[in-house]
Amino acid sequence: MNPAPNLVLVGPMGAGKSSIGRRLAGRFGLDFVDADREIEARTGASIPTIFECEGETGFRAREAATLAELLARDGLVVATGGGAVLDAGSRRQMRERGFVVHLQVSLARQLERLARDRSRPLLAGDDRADVLRRLTETRAPLYAEVADLCFDTNNLFPPQATEQLARLL
Ligand code: S3P
Repeated sequence: MNPAPNLVLVGPMGAGKSSIGRRLAGRFGLDFVDADREIEARTGASIPTIFECEGETGFRAREAATLAELLARDGLVVATGGGAVLDAGSRRQMRERGFVVHLQVSLARQLERLARDRSRPLLAGDDRADVLRRLTETRAPLYAEVADLCFDTNNLFPPQATEQLARLL
């Protein structure tokens, strides 16, 4: 396994960061943290409620602060939120404190995997395809900037993706 202090998963919504991250941690005997769940636990509010009360700006500040604390630790597998790479400080900390894997997914697969999801405020409107396409356009260079490794999850269920990815680490 790679000697970096932490393993950090980045990538868009629906890429499989949480499901693969949890399994990878189990396989390597590391602790798993889903950054979004950690933000909710610390705030005592759901992500949609945080967006509603504090806007995306408030959420991003919480996200950057939470990641800074998590990445200061060792031996974690961290599933980040899709927009965590927007913060330059977070990107630097990811690179300094982790081996960063960019989980890639096509728009079609994102739509399929997120079809029944109502927990993502950025997808609350009607045109999910358009939103997801625009987010990927903006963020693709940021994922590329931080990634040590890219891994395509399109045609794999989480157990197989985990197994294949584990062999590359
Ligand atoms: C977001 C992705 C979500 C969550 C929030 C915002 C984004 O995490 O952090 O809804 O900006 O792409 P997942 O990538 O785990 O869905």
